[in-house]
Amino acid sequence: SITPKPSNEPVLAYSPGTSEREAVIQELKRQKSEITQIPMVIDGDKIFTDTKDKVVCPHDHQQVIAEVSQGTADHAKSAIDAALKARKEWAALPWEARAAVFLKAADLLATKYRAEMNAATMLGQSKTVHQAEIDAACELIDFFRFNVHYAEQIYSEQPGSAFGMWNRSEIRGLEGFVYAITPFNFTSIAVNLPAAPALMGCAVIWKPAPTSMHGAYLGLRILEEAGLPKGVINMISGDPQELSSVLLPHPELSGIHFTGSTATFNHLWQEVGKNINNYRYYPRIVGETGGKDFVFAHSSADAQELCTALVRGAFEFQGQKCSAASRAYVPKSLWSKLKPALVETVKSIKMGDVEDFHNFMSAVIDKRSFDKIASYIDHAKQAKDAEIVVGGEYDDSKGYFIRPTIIEASNPHYKSMVEEIFGPVLTIYVYEDEAFEETLAICDSSTKYALTGAIFAKDRHVIDHMAKTLVHAAGNFYINDKPTGAVVGQQPFGGGRASGTNDKAGSMLNLLRWASFRTVKENF
Ligand code: ALA
Repeated sequence: SITPKPSNEPVLAYSPGTSEREAVIQELKRQKSEITQIPMVIDGDKIFTDTKDKVVCPHDHQQVIAEVSQGTADHAKSAIDAALKARKEWAALPWEARAAVFLKAADLLATKYRAEMNAATMLGQSKTVHQAEIDAACELIDFFRFNVHYAEQIYSEQPGSAFGMWNRSEIRGLEGFVYAITPFNFTSIAVNLPAAPALMGCAVIWKPAPTSMHGAYLGLRILEEAGLPKGVINMISGDPQELSSVLLPHPELSGIHFTGSTATFNHLWQEVGKNINNYRYYPRIVGETGGKDFVFAHSSADAQELCTALVRGAFEFQGQKCSAASRAYVPKSLWSKLKPALVETVKSIKMGDVEDFHNFMSAVIDKRSFDKIASYIDHAKQAKDAEIVVGGEYDDSKGYFIRPTIIEASNPHYKSMVEEIFGPVLTIYVYEDEAFEETLAICDSSTKYALTGAIFAKDRHVIDHMAKTLVHAAGNFYINDKPTGAVVGQQPFGGGRASGTNDKAGSMLNLLRWASFRTVKENF
């Protein structure tokens, strides 16, 4: 029988005077006072090199918190050798033995390493304590536990048999190695991308984003402490093109687990296409990519609810969630109420260092991101068909700070209504109430993406109609809620169209991509 579905890890509040708050404060101090040396991890060995990449706090770019040893093509080759060597024994273990590693890692993270992990994510990615807690603690713990729950269902499903025979499914991890390429914006996603294939019996080579190394490396150390054998997950750093030039054409590449930009994902597919005659397997390519997530309000919506959803959806973690609201469609009849509420709320947002727990927002991840976001704000300041409603200020003298910005566009195809920005910029198109239908159609077709989206309406018929019209516009679709904050086991996460393969992280669908079935029929 299947063990009961796990409960989601409770989100701690970090209120003044609590022991969890004190523990995080101590960890922040400790991690700032030393420069963590982050090696590559190949076959369980820590590999330090002379070429280091500095990791700084985005909210204080003079503060170096880590140095990451950079590898070369030779390290990528050693990582492949290590993965291929480790794979067989790891895959041959009973699945429960692999699962135990991840369940233990969840417990270690929930207790012993929670403060360290949250502080690493706060300093490395400029998350507030709440944003770190729901990502690096709760979501990652949930990924570990729910993956095991869904794996159990996969392993227990068996085909039917008839008289004189016995049919079985043997569920094998993929041969070869899986290449995990992971993003900066969620420590939980970064660690889950190598962890999910590993649970299913694959061996993995993991290249985390350089700006999330602090949390990613701790994630790997927790898995090692929980008993992950050496060589099962090998972590490498360095020039992505150099590393990929070894990994992508390798005949043993059997899967890619990716979260990042659509352009990079397209490049990965192209490289696989170019090398298709050289592989021993058809690589399974699983990815979550870009988005231009929408909020669409009908005139029956509640203005205050909408205001809260837009502010939280667009500006928490500086709008750098893949799920963040970045375009909204609001009827004219609601706008007169909504606009002043938005302006007042956004003006009151406190922003700054993550160590001041009163701040609701902090800095964006790096200079490149800062410049890109600022260019959209500058464009809106000059455009004929856009104007800044609130925000528009930015300053990178200490950290990469951009005030939460709302742009009103008079054209639903205006640049920032259709292009992904990945920052705290929300563009709103105010439509004539009579133009509801055509605006809904524009929402569906004006971007190539389909990650998350939200609708706001009270009328049941309208809700049904909107949901049907936007049926493929979002892989995660929210009714009267913000489009962010999917919880593992509750709202499996992923998108379609140019937003990815929609294999829903933390679900059975995702785990199935890392499994290869052997059907066995035995006659009596
Ligand atoms: N859980 C994250 C969100 O939905 C990905 O925002």
